[in-house]
Amino acid sequence: MRLLRGRLALLLPLVALPLAAACPCGDPDLCRPIQGAREFEVFVFDVGGGTWRFYNWTHITTVATFGAYDPELMCYAHARGARVVLKGDVPVEKMLEPAARELWITQQVELAKKQYMDGINIDIEQAVNRLSPEYDALTNLVKETTDAFHRAIPGSQVTFDVAWSPACIDQRCYNYIGLANACDFVFVMSYDEQSQNWGECIARPNAPYNKTVSGYEDYINMGIHPKKLVMGVPWYGYDYTCLNLSKDHICSIKPVPFHGAPCSDAAGRQVPYKIIMDQVTSSISGSQWDEEQEAPYYEYKDALGHFHQVWYDDPWSISLKAAYAQQRGLRGIGMWNGDCLNYSRTAVAEQQTEAMWQALIP
Ligand SMILES: *[C@@H]1O[C@H](CO)[C@@H](O)[C@H](O)[C@H]1NC(C)=O
Ligand SMILES: *[C@@H]1O[C@H](CO)[C@@H](O)[C@H](O)[C@H]1NC(C)=O
Ligand SMILES: *[C@@H]1O[C@H](CO)[C@@H](O)[C@H](O)[C@H]1NC(C)=O
Ligand SMILES: *[C@@H]1O[C@H](CO)[C@@H](O)[C@H](O)[C@H]1NC(C)=O
Repeated sequence: MRLLRGRLALLLPLVALPLAAACPCGDPDLCRPIQGAREFEVFVFDVGGGTWRFYNWTHITTVATFGAYDPELMCYAHARGARVVLKGDVPVEKMLEPAARELWITQQVELAKKQYMDGINIDIEQAVNRLSPEYDALTNLVKETTDAFHRAIPGSQVTFDVAWSPACIDQRCYNYIGLANACDFVFVMSYDEQSQNWGECIARPNAPYNKTVSGYEDYINMGIHPKKLVMGVPWYGYDYTCLNLSKDHICSIKPVPFHGAPCSDAAGRQVPYKIIMDQVTSSISGSQWDEEQEAPYYEYKDALGHFHQVWYDDPWSISLKAAYAQQRGLRGIGMWNGDCLNYSRTAVAEQQTEAMWQALIP
């Protein structure tokens, strides 16, 4: 007995060391989880690259770190009262058994604790059939994750990402009411709204105003409270190569089928706002505004002589949607993603960047 105890005593510190990583912040208080909630969420996806230093932190409430973990970002966010949350992604077909879910959830909670983080954003964008076992497994996974995080990390936040509409977009037929009830709020990805197009194969806006709003109205009408919804806006656009570009700006595109629809935005290429801003000034059309869809676009000719049409969002199109989010009493707003802007320290870039952050809070 004595011998055994002696050995354990020797082993324990070695085992315990990696779990209790020292707080990386200058002030150890900054390793404490953020408590409480602010009136209006500003939810930022960070994909890495270190541009977070130049975000406008005035309104940021949560940063979801989809890039590598950066302890400096955690300390900085905590100093500004903002949460930092993990990315959660796992194949739903592996989460059918309660034991499998428990194991995955325990790993996420441990990782979050080790990194002094404040929750998790679950980003499972998988197709799910209403009649499959995945349908309930997904809702259970989110519910159990929320319970485990709330228990283990006081004040923590668990959120789930959903498509722009609850209408089985990209065959994601989820239990939306169940999911919204199961977590703190859902982040509605109001972009990629042309992933499935049954009409003509033409270039269209990434996040047109009416289509965006109709998604929220559908979520609310099905019984989800507006305070369970955070609006996601795109800080990127789509560049389409036109097979033919007509005088009245109709850009026909290659049919790329997606989940049963004959055309898709997969025919285009996603471009961050900083590239768009560089390109629009030298484009042949300059920035144009589509009155009906309330979205800007421009056209250019590439080195091979092909015409392109680029649809995007700018401070004006975003502020219209942000105004709706406020009037409709949504929980907040956010964007994919914070690193899309030009954070160069020049007057032109600073003005562009500031206007994009400002548009979130009209
Ligand atoms: C391109 O559009 C014009 C009308 O704007 C039409 O006359 C022409 O036939 C079209 N070309 C192709 C290849 O579709
Ligand atoms: C960002 O801004 C700088 C300075 O205005 C400019 O030189 C650069 O081309 C811009 N674009 C990107 C993608 O960095
Ligand atoms: C957008 O919605 C408004 C109000 O419902 C309507 O008047 C307008 O025609 C719609 N625009 C489009 C492009 O559907
Ligand atoms: C950040 O946003 C606040 C409030 O909207 C604004 O007053 C401030 O000028 C912005 N800061 C920067 C650096 O853009």
